[in-house]
This record gives sequence, C-alpha cells and structure tokens, in this order.
Amino acid sequence: MHQSMDLVVSARAAFAAASTAAELENAKARFLGKAGAVTELMKELAGLPVEQKKTRGAEINRLKQAIEAELQARRAALAEAELKAQLKAEALDVTLPGRRPAANGSLHPIGRAMERIEAIFGSMGFDVADGPEIETDWYSFTALNNPENHPARSMQDTFYVDVNDAEGRPLNLRPHTSPMQIRYAQAHARKYAGQASMPEIRVIAPGRTYRVDSDATHSPMFHQVEGLWVGENISFKDLKAVYLRFVQAFFETDDLKLRFRPSYFPFTEPSAEIDMMFGSGPLQGRWLEVSGSGQVHPQVIRNMGLDAERYIGFAFGSGIDRLAMLRYGVGDLRLFFEGDLRFLSQFR
Ligand code: DAH
Repeated sequence: MHQSMDLVVSARAAFAAASTAAELENAKARFLGKAGAVTELMKELAGLPVEQKKTRGAEINRLKQAIEAELQARRAALAEAELKAQLKAEALDVTLPGRRPAANGSLHPIGRAMERIEAIFGSMGFDVADGPEIETDWYSFTALNNPENHPARSMQDTFYVDVNDAEGRPLNLRPHTSPMQIRYAQAHARKYAGQASMPEIRVIAPGRTYRVDSDATHSPMFHQVEGLWVGENISFKDLKAVYLRFVQAFFETDDLKLRFRPSYFPFTEPSAEIDMMFGSGPLQGRWLEVSGSGQVHPQVIRNMGLDAERYIGFAFGSGIDRLAMLRYGVGDLRLFFEGDLRFLSQFR
C-alpha cells in the first residue's frame, strides 16, 4: 500500500510537470500504458496465490483509479490554462480609442448647393429634371427662339463636338440649362396630348453647362438651374414670389430684397435680370446679379408643342456656382473646380 501511495504521488508530480496535452499523454503512458508502472504491477498478480490475488488486485485497481483521477484533474487544469491563454491572446481592449478613418469623403459644395436648391423648389411643388449635356443645335438655340446667325448666340459661345446632329449641325456642350425647358415641356405636352386640360408645368433642371470663358468669376464648365412654370394663368408676380421665397430659404434669411431689371433674352418677353440685396451681413447693401428670367416667349411655348394662346408662364436661369459663392463666402469660382482638398475639406 505504501508503495502504491508513492506511485500516486509520483504520477501526480509527473502529470504536474507536463505543460502540454502531448507531454501529459507521454506521462500517462509511463503509469497507465502497456509498459507502464500499473501494468507491471498487474503482471505480478499472476504469480500470487488466489487469496492474495484478490486483495492485491483490488488494491491495484484503486491505485489505477487514483492515478486516473490525477490524470483527469491535470487534463482539466491544462485545458483551462489553455483557454485562459487563448482568451488573453484574443482579448479586446474595449477602452482603446477606435481608429479614425484618415479622410471622410463629403459632398462637393456645388453638389450641396444643388441639393438645397432641389429641396427648396421641391417644397414649392417643382419637379426636378435632368437632361443631356451634349445638345443639338435646335434645343440649345433654335427652339429657344435664338435662330442661326442671331447676334444673341454669341452671348453663349460654347464648345462643339465633332459629330453632327440629324439636321447636319454640330452637337454642342449646352451653354445653358434652358434646353431643358423645351425637353421637359415637350414630354409633358405629349403625355397630356388630346386631353381637355393639362396639369401645370412646374420644374427645375439643375446641371452642368459650358462656355468659352475663364477667369475668377467664369469657368468653362459651370452650373445652372433652370426654372419653368407654365399654366393658363402664371404671371410675373408668381415668378417674383417663388424666387423671393427661394433666395430667402437658400440664404436662410428674410432680410433680403429682389430687384427685376429689364434685360433681353431671345426666349423671354419681357425679360429681366434678377438682382438680390442682403439687408445685413458682409454683402449688405450691394445689388448682386443672381438670375436671368422672363415670361416665356410665345414662339418658345409653340416650340414646346403647346398652344401659345392658352399657355403662359415664366422661366429663369440662375448660376448655381454664384449662389454657392455667395452662400459659402468663396471669392474665386475656380476654387470649386481645382479639387484641392485644403479647400474642399472645409465643407465636410
Ligand atoms: N439661359 C440664360 C443664360 O444662360 C439664362 C436665362 C435667362 C434663363 C432668362 C431663363 C430665362 O430661363 O428666362 O444666360
């Protein structure tokens, strides 16, 4: 029995010395394996008389169970230690501050201005339309009552594409968003053709426009927003109300005035330039030109496919870049289009 206790103690020591599952299996073999100490004791049983065999056999069995219990305990301890080590290795320090992305993208200030414009006119019931930047001669000029060889065409000297339209005229990069008046109204007229009445046309068309022009306040590519409201009884007073409401919302102040200055555009009669003046702030007291406008010319109404005796309305075309410059206090238009992050990231 004494010898047996020694065996348990040395098994416990050997198991304790094993620091991995593999080492533990080796240690186990030394005690419980085929050539292990316990097996050796079993073999000795064979030579004992029957009576002793019984008691000795029971003793060896208890010894074996005691060693197996030691083994199990060590296995459990090793498994727990391994789990702890793993948890420690994979631990997340939740108190560590997160890593900030190096640079968050953001909307370009012009895109941001466009979204504001769309939201404001949208709230006044205007649809938002989008159209081609490469236009035919008819949409950019002729349909807008600006015939070939008319001197007013030079107001909008643009770029031409080396491809002709169906009428044999070179396609142009639209010099204004006004072609969208025609495109949208034509589609509207077609949609309600043959019906006794037609819902009013109320739309804005923001987008890119092009002209041969480049200095601190002109860029060869710039942005306009076209506005069109045509119905049976739409007048200049509606234009004035809508536009005043727009600039008040855009600049977030009621403290500003509008002035309509007589002007000329082939597609409107009468035509007016819209000027705006802030009642306070850094631009206080200066008239700022913000838009062309006018009552849609009857010939343009006809070119839309509408009865000029029945339909009347107004249109305007405003420079989005100019509105954005005023709103964000930007002095040089070119900054918008140089892609310099030192400038752009200020709008994040
Ligand atoms: N298309 C004109 C331009 O680019 C601006 C304009 C003036 C648009 C009067 C209009 C308008 O719709 O009625 O200079």
